Amino acid sequence: MTWLITGGAGYIGSHVVREMTGAQPVVVLDDLSTGRAERLPAGVPLVVGSVLDRPLLDRVLADHSVTGIVHIAGKKQVAESVERPLHYYRENVDGLRTLLEAAAAAGVGRFLFSSSAAVYGMPDVDLVTEDTPCLPLSPYGETKLAGEWMVAAAGKAYGMATASLRYFNVAGAASAELGDDGVFNLVPMVFERLTAGEPPRVFGDDYPTPDGTCVRDYVHVADIASAHVAAAHRLTEDPSAALVLNIGRGEGASVAEMVDIILDVTGHTGLPPVTGPRRPGDPARVVAAVDAIGKELDWSARHDIRTMIESAWEGWRLRHPDVRT
Ligand code: WQD
Repeated sequence: MTWLITGGAGYIGSHVVREMTGAQPVVVLDDLSTGRAERLPAGVPLVVGSVLDRPLLDRVLADHSVTGIVHIAGKKQVAESVERPLHYYRENVDGLRTLLEAAAAAGVGRFLFSSSAAVYGMPDVDLVTEDTPCLPLSPYGETKLAGEWMVAAAGKAYGMATASLRYFNVAGAASAELGDDGVFNLVPMVFERLTAGEPPRVFGDDYPTPDGTCVRDYVHVADIASAHVAAAHRLTEDPSAALVLNIGRGEGASVAEMVDIILDVTGHTGLPPVTGPRRPGDPARVVAAVDAIGKELDWSARHDIRTMIESAWEGWRLRHPDVRT
């Protein structure tokens, strides 16, 4: 029973490969547009290519006798999706459609899809459940919601057990070598400012939250990976599974709280944050209800915020050996 993991050479994908490869054989497909082959453990086969390449997909599924797919490959920058919506629809929606067509033709029985809290848009609730209305605000979020619909419909039509996992705010690293190369989210963006000798920027402190800054559900990437292993096991045990689940800690942390911990962990306490205007499109609070994933997969997050930031910092220092620490 081999699992194909698309995007397995990327930040999140390589953590999933690391977790899954112990339990069953895996093969990775990655176009290396942002992924790096050195992220993969020795012995894991890597096929370099795109999910848009149907003949390549057919070959990989046949050559490796793939029976399950974890689809993580995709474009995930919210701001870029606004500037290049059709690029996002091509990569994230056409790519997924092509992969689902190949999976159905090859009789693949299990399909795990990397979705996102971005499908919710601006939920005005204390805890976001899977039944909270999905009103995405960006083409990125739209492509993830459309992806969930395609996965669910294909699962019903072609007899695949499916799960769409809605990642909340992912941070941290299981090891320094697997740290996030991107600088598109709060934690690495603050690292970048601090190591340039500049104060972190807080995008707005007039939100209706306890300290006025936005609240998010930060979850360790190692927990994201363990949730994928739990989901893969469930799809193997339950051929009729058709799940959509939040992955988070179920607890919120504000931007101000995160920045305080980052200053403490990095030692840059002499660079207190400066507050600027709100960033358009930012909801005040997006925190996951995690009852469903606990019930369906018997899973809960195990890492706390400080561990996320400490591990992310180790990765940053490894990739930037010249930084002032
Ligand atoms: C978090 C908070 C910013 C940088 C992303 C994407 C997507 C999804 C969820 C997977 C916001 C504030 C940030 C800075 C700041 N995950 N901020 N100063 O926008 O919650 O959503 O994660 O698909 O990746 O939708 O994440 O890290 O960009 O911002 O004040 O220098 O930090 O305003 O409130 P976001 P983020």
